[in-house]
Amino acid sequence: MPLNPRTSDGRATGTATPRFELAHIGPHVDDGERAVAELRAGLGRSPAHLPARLLYDARGSALFDAITELPEYYPTRAETEILERHAGEIIERAAPAELFELGSGSSRKTRILIEAALERGCRRYVALDVSASALEQAGLELVAAHDELSVRALVADFASGLAHRAGPGPRLVLFLGSTLGNFRPEERRRFLKQLALSLRPDDRLLLGYDIVKPAAVLELAYDDPAGVTAAFVRNGLHNLARVGGEPIPLAAFAYEAKWIPESSHMEMRLVARRDLRIRLPNLDLHLDLAAGEFLISEISTKFTRESLARDLSEAGLTVDVTFADRAKRFELLLARPQG
Ligand code: TRP
Repeated sequence: MPLNPRTSDGRATGTATPRFELAHIGPHVDDGERAVAELRAGLGRSPAHLPARLLYDARGSALFDAITELPEYYPTRAETEILERHAGEIIERAAPAELFELGSGSSRKTRILIEAALERGCRRYVALDVSASALEQAGLELVAAHDELSVRALVADFASGLAHRAGPGPRLVLFLGSTLGNFRPEERRRFLKQLALSLRPDDRLLLGYDIVKPAAVLELAYDDPAGVTAAFVRNGLHNLARVGGEPIPLAAFAYEAKWIPESSHMEMRLVARRDLRIRLPNLDLHLDLAAGEFLISEISTKFTRESLARDLSEAGLTVDVTFADRAKRFELLLARPQG
């Protein structure tokens, strides 16, 4: 049968198979006005923030994959270890008809859960990410590897994607990689509420989060000697220049990853080596930085089991069970909507 692949909004994808479908949900993530509004809001803060979306173009997604393999970056390995040990129990407890992953990236760790799910008759995987290239690659590989699996890829931001359901039955929402830690506290609260509201009584949330640990360990994890993380963050600045419409002197910025104990987060900074004016004509904006001032590219909040359980409970979620890796660096928890 000849294929005429279309996304749900009618755009041809050219790469769909009957079991793989890619759709753009909600406002297009590259939507000019939205992106500009988001950029302006971030850059207008003090210190200025670069929106995370600038990090995950095709080059950024490839660099991020390289980060996950660095010896200093333990979260991916620790989380994979937990999944390998407990995927069966997780799927048994949640008994999902659908896996729904927020920020799926390469879906590499998710494979472990998908395999455990397939063994128990769950054949639906919905992957949501801002990176269409990552979604397409991961989705095609997954359906090629598993002939019973169907994959629906959503190019969307978290808020627009949550409302979408591919079919009936309980859903297990996956939010891995400590991505929750990349939200500011107020954004985190808003997001968790929204997530809790999207869950039906039989749905479950599987959440991966990083545990507070000594500053030296954290600072190496986010500023590796090989410079991969620095290149990843600088790529965000490069993307800012592209969006802004004028080159930015990248060498005038030093990369720094700093542990901020008062807010329990890592802060990834681009520090001006000299007084700088960054012109962003397309945004009708400029940024003045004195030597030593910095832009914040991302934060990565570190939790304790207790601090996170409190946040979840405020949002209307109850923790059922937690799993840690052997070295107790990272945890996964399974939660349900408070009933
Ligand atoms: N969710 C990842 C984390 O917080 C994202 C991340 C890893 C990241 N390394 C980074 C973000 C470096 C910015 C810079 O661990």
